[in-house]
Amino acid sequence: MNIPTTPAASASIEGACAANAILSVRNLETWYGPISAIKGVNIELSKGDFVTVLGANGAGKTTLLNTIAGVIDPFKGSVHFMGEAIDGLDPDEVARRGLVLVPEGRQVFPFLSVAENLRMGAFARRSPDGAAADMQRVYQWFPRLHEREQQPAGLLSGGEQQMLAIGRALMADPSVLLLDEPSLGLSPLLTREIFRIVDRINQETGMSILVVEQNAAIALHTARHGYIMELGRVVAAGPCQVLLEKEDVKDFYLGAASAQAEGDQGKQRWRRRKTWR
Ligand SMILES: Nc1ncnc2c1ncn2[C@@H]1O[C@H](COP(=O)(O)OP(=O)(O)OP(=O)(O)O)[C@@H](O)[C@H]1O
Ligand SMILES: [Mg+2]
Repeated sequence: MNIPTTPAASASIEGACAANAILSVRNLETWYGPISAIKGVNIELSKGDFVTVLGANGAGKTTLLNTIAGVIDPFKGSVHFMGEAIDGLDPDEVARRGLVLVPEGRQVFPFLSVAENLRMGAFARRSPDGAAADMQRVYQWFPRLHEREQQPAGLLSGGEQQMLAIGRALMADPSVLLLDEPSLGLSPLLTREIFRIVDRINQETGMSILVVEQNAAIALHTARHGYIMELGRVVAAGPCQVLLEKEDVKDFYLGAASAQAEGDQGKQRWRRRKTWR
C-alpha cells in the first residue's frame, strides 16, 4: 500500500476523510517572532479516532498542539472543531467546547491535593452535571490517584503526575483529548501503562485522542493513524500499521538501536538519509 510522503500528498488523503472529521487543521502556520515553527500543516481527526503526531526535538509538535488549543494564535490557516472555526479563540473557550490539552511537562498544582487538582479540571466543563461521576471514573482508570487522593500533587512521582494531568483534563469532559508527550521523563514501563490506559479510555468512551510523541514505537503501536513532522512540516502520514513498515520510520524512529549495532556503517546510513521518501 502506498502512503503519502509529501505535504501535498498527505493533504489529499486527509481531504478524503474530512466529512466525518471532529478536528480539522488546515494549512496551519505559526511563528515565534521571526522564527517559523510550523508551516502548511494539515491534520484530520475523526470522531473516536486515536491519532499520533511524531517528530524529533524542535519538529513543531508542541507548537501544533498549543495552536490547536488556542494557547498560541496561528499566523495563517484554520482549525475547525465540530465544524466550527476555533482559531483565535482563548484556550479556556476552546476547552469549554470540549477540546482539552494535557500540556508538555504535566503542570499540576503541586501544593493542591490530587482530588483538588482533579476538581480544578472541572472548571472547564460545559456542564457541571456528572463531575462527581467522572471523578470516580478517573479513579477507576487511574487507581493510583485514588490511593493518593489527599496527597499533595507535588509529592507524586513523575508517572503519577502525568496520570493526574490526564485525569484533570478528563474532568473537563472533553470530546477530544490533546496529549503533549505523555512519555516525557518516564520509564518505558510507566509509558506503556499510560498509553494502555489512554487506549482504554478511547475504546470505552469513544473520546478522540491526538497524542504527540517522540516515543514512536509505543505511539505507533497504540494509535491508529500517524503523522510525522520534521522542521515544522508534515512529511509523512498514514495508518500506523503502514508507517511501522516504512523504511524511513524504521531507520529514524524504530531502528536507532539496530543502526548503532551496525557500527559506523549504520551511523553513516543514518546521516545519509536526511530526506523523507
Ligand atoms: N517560545 C518560543 N520562542 C521562540 N521559538 C520557539 C518557542 N517555542 C518553540 N520555539 C521554536 O519552535 C520550533 C518548534 O518547537 P516545538 O517546541 O514546537 O517543538 P517540539 O516538536 O515540541 O519539540 P520537543 O520534542 O523538544 O518538545 C523549534 O525550532 C523551537 O526552537
Ligand atoms: Mg514539545
